[in-house]
Amino acid sequence: MKKKLACSALFSLVVGVGSVVAAQQMTHIERLGQKLYNDKDLSLNSTQSCATCHHQSAGFVDPSNTKDPYNTMVSLGDDGFSKGGRNAPTSAYCGFSPILHLADDNNWYGGMFWDGRKTGDILGDPLAEQAQGPPLNPVEMNMPNETAIIERVLNADYAHFFEEMYGPVDLTNEAEVLAAYDFVATAIAAFERSAYVTSFASDFDRGVMSAQEENGYRLVQQNCTGCHAEETPEGAAGPLFTNYGYVNIGVPVNEKLLAVEGSVYAPPDLGLGTTVNDPAQNGKFKVPTLRNTAVTAPYSHNGYFATLHDIVSFHNDRSSWPLPEVNENVSDVVGDMGLTAAEINDIVAFLHALTDKKGKAGN
Ligand code: HEC
Ligand code: HEC
Repeated sequence: MKKKLACSALFSLVVGVGSVVAAQQMTHIERLGQKLYNDKDLSLNSTQSCATCHHQSAGFVDPSNTKDPYNTMVSLGDDGFSKGGRNAPTSAYCGFSPILHLADDNNWYGGMFWDGRKTGDILGDPLAEQAQGPPLNPVEMNMPNETAIIERVLNADYAHFFEEMYGPVDLTNEAEVLAAYDFVATAIAAFERSAYVTSFASDFDRGVMSAQEENGYRLVQQNCTGCHAEETPEGAAGPLFTNYGYVNIGVPVNEKLLAVEGSVYAPPDLGLGTTVNDPAQNGKFKVPTLRNTAVTAPYSHNGYFATLHDIVSFHNDRSSWPLPEVNENVSDVVGDMGLTAAEINDIVAFLHALTDKKGKAGN
C-alpha cells in the first residue's frame, strides 16, 4: 500500500517539471536526481554511476565509446571485465517516450531501451522504470539488491537531502525499501527530463543555421521525419526527431563487437521481437533521437557505424553493405533513398546543428 501511495504522490510532483522552461533553476527533485545520477556508490565497487555511461560531455552517451568508435562500442561494467552487447543510447530526450503500446497502425511505440523492454507498465513512466535497471544489472553497476542500494543512499553525503524529501526508510522492511527505490527512480527521471539534460539548446533550436544546414534540414524533412519525427510532443520545447517507433533498418552483424572479450553480444539480436514475443517484430529497434547525434558515435544498436557519414550513407544505399543482422522484416523505406554525395554532406551538416551548446539553456 505504501508503495502505491509513494508512487502516485511522486508522479504529481514530476508532471509538468519537463524541460519546457529552459534556463531555470533545478527543482529539489531534479537536484536529488542529479546527485543519484552521479553517485558511483550506487555500483558495487563504487566505480561507476549513470554518468559513467551517459555523460554530458558526450551528449549523455558513454565517453569511452565516443573517443574510439571504431573499436569501442559497448560499455564496461563495474566488475572491470563484463561488457554489454549494445551501444549505450543517450539518456537525454527520452522522457517523452510513452508506455510501450501497439498503436492503431499495428506498430509498436514507446518504452525504453533499444528493444522497449522497460515498458513503463509498472511505474507508469518508462524513464523512471529504466532507471531502476542499471544499479542491479550484473554487467553494469552490479548491486545485489534494492536494500543494498538504499543503504548506500542513506550513507551518502546527500542523505539528509533525500530524507528531508522522502522521510525515513526502515532497511529491514522490504516494502519500505522498494517504495524508496521507486522514489530514487522518479528523482533520476526528473533530472533526465530537466533542462540540464534535455536542454533544447542547439543552433537548430536557436534558429541560427548556415545555408548548408538549412538545406540538410529540408532533406531530413523529405527523407527522415517519417521515423525521426518532427512533431513537437506535448511538454517538449521542440521536436525530438524520433517517433519512438521500431524499425529494422538492416544493420549488419558487428563482427568487431563479436571479437570483444567479455561482451555478451550474441547475434542475431532480435530486438523488439524478443520483448513482445512476436517474430513479425524481429530485428526492429527503437528509432533514436537525432539530437546530439553528432557527438554520440558510434551509431545503431550494435555500434556498427563509427561515423555519421557512414550511418547516413547506409540509410541512403544499403546495397554496398553486408547483409542485415536480422534478415527479416527489413524496412524498404530506407536503403534506397537516391541521395547524392553532396546531399548526404548537407544532412550531416544539419545533424551537427542539433548539438546542444553548453550555457545556451539549462546548462
Ligand atoms: C555500464 C554502462 C551503463 C551504466 C552504468 C548505465 N547505463 Fe544506461 N544504458 C546503457 C546501455 C548499454 C543501454 C542500452 C541497453 C539496451 O538497449 O539494451 C542503456 C540505456 C539507457 C536508457 C534508454 C535510452 C533509450 O532511448 O531507450 C536510459 C534512459 C539510460 N540508460 C539511463 C541510465 C541511468 C539513469 C543510469 C543510472 C541509474 C544508467 N543508464 C546507467 C549503459 C549504461
Ligand atoms: C523507416 C524509418 C527510418 C527512416 C526513414 C530513417 N531512419 Fe534513421 N534510424 C532508424 C532506426 C530504427 C535506427 C536505429 C536502427 C538500429 O539501431 O538498428 C536509425 C538510426 C539512425 C541514426 C543513428 C543514431 C544513433 O544514435 O545511433 C542516425 C544518425 C539516423 N538514423 C539518421 C537518419 C537520417 C539522416 C535519415 C534520413 C536520411 C534517417 N535516419 C531515416 C529509422 C529510420
